[in-house]
Amino acid sequence: MFTLNVAAAAALVVRAASAADVFAHFMVQNAYAYDVGQWKTDIASAQQIGIDGFALNWIPPDCQGGLGWTVDRIDDAFTAAAAMNFKLMYSFDMSYSTCNIYWNQTFMGEMISKYAGNSATYRWNSNILVSTYGGDQVQQYGNDFFAGLKSSLSGSNAITLAPALTTYSLAAQDDATGAANKLMNDYSSIDGYFDWQAWPLNTGNNITATPDQAFQSALKSKGKTGPYIMSVSPWQYKDLNNGNPLDTWVAYSDTLFDDRFKQLTGDDVKPDIIELLTWNDFCESHYLRDLPNQQDTSAKDYVVLGDMGTYVWGQNHAPWRIIAKYYISWWKNGSPPAITMDQVVFWHRIHPKGATCSGGSSTAVRNAQYPDDAVFAWALVKEKSTISMSVGSNQYWTFEADNNGPATGMVPFPSDLGNGVTPEVAIMRNGQAVQSGKSSQVVQGYCTYQNFNPVVNLVGPGINVGPSS
Ligand SMILES: *[C@@H]1O[C@H](CO)[C@@H](O)[C@H](O)[C@H]1NC(C)=O
Ligand SMILES: *[C@@H]1O[C@H](CO)[C@@H](O)[C@H](O)[C@H]1NC(C)=O
Repeated sequence: MFTLNVAAAAALVVRAASAADVFAHFMVQNAYAYDVGQWKTDIASAQQIGIDGFALNWIPPDCQGGLGWTVDRIDDAFTAAAAMNFKLMYSFDMSYSTCNIYWNQTFMGEMISKYAGNSATYRWNSNILVSTYGGDQVQQYGNDFFAGLKSSLSGSNAITLAPALTTYSLAAQDDATGAANKLMNDYSSIDGYFDWQAWPLNTGNNITATPDQAFQSALKSKGKTGPYIMSVSPWQYKDLNNGNPLDTWVAYSDTLFDDRFKQLTGDDVKPDIIELLTWNDFCESHYLRDLPNQQDTSAKDYVVLGDMGTYVWGQNHAPWRIIAKYYISWWKNGSPPAITMDQVVFWHRIHPKGATCSGGSSTAVRNAQYPDDAVFAWALVKEKSTISMSVGSNQYWTFEADNNGPATGMVPFPSDLGNGVTPEVAIMRNGQAVQSGKSSQVVQGYCTYQNFNPVVNLVGPGINVGPSS
């Protein structure tokens, strides 16, 4: 029996290193109200679309005070994940440049070792995989810090390190090979890499896979054995509402989710792991998770968003998980999944980019010139169909779809928005609407608060909210 277990464990370990695994980035600071049951609900919702694990974004618990509870939530996360055959890895948030107590190797080592025997701990080859957000821009960290962390851990606690070092990911948008080579020279301690830059950087061009290819080939040519982790995200918009125009930005994301996934299924890049950005970063507008209930303060996923809630509440993103599910299945199985339903996912912002809003202290949104004032649609249909889209006086804009794969289309906002117009979408077949529906939000020419976070809708059956729908 003993020998058998060892052999079975070894088989699992070997499989992990070659598996196509999908993680979603999870902000632990948004899990204050969570209990084990809530973690299980989130995990079930993630598993429904093929996500294998969460990368736990963890701010140092004593950095700015008041985050000591995160240690207990992580404990609950491991309990829930182990019970559900789900994986967890740390993504130590090393981006905070002012801390009372920074991350230190002793504490990190303890937290890593604590769960070394837990089945939810994600391993790469036989090591525990550890990731970060940052670690290159704060003087307390850097290559020597990482090297020290690694050498302090051995045996079943040994780690493989695949950090996200943002200066290199940003630089790679201009000079991918140069940034990748510099990374390898500056950070000899790393085993793998996570390229955080999932969005076009201050440009109206679509994202390319050139940085992914450069980082991955640099790792290979240095003989590194860690994973290349590819980031995939649907959107980016953040407004810190502090009056500084540099602290409000949008990234050109109109068709980003579909474009980025196609790099994966089109073999532009063959990462070892995908990390979706993100599961629950509400304030950066790239959450895939259901929105919590804003009013129910006793809900186990209750979250306080403050000013940032002005552009988050009401902006459901759940149907984006349909797009993720389709491409994740394709990537894992090597072929597109059969299409068994008629679905159109469609999304739009709720005011034109040129609107002047009455509230909020932001005077300008960086990159606001790039998004198109339009409704975007992604259709997955089981038979040849015409997708019809209308918004205000722009009526019945159509595109064709069939069961070969997703089809995309758009309809621009009309110039006259009157008192507000509600986008409508129908799936037409043989002259009949087989599915139709309206957006949950209107598009208006005026706004009380600047909002470049889209609302995402679904026509047809499937994921709209909640893990069971
Ligand atoms: C390391 O971090 C932990 C957690 O914040 C803290 O309790 C501890 O005091 C730190 N140790 C040192 C030496 O700074
Ligand atoms: C980005 O790609 C989409 C197709 O997914 C295309 O419609 C759009 O025109 C592209 N944007 C730019 C700026 O090239």
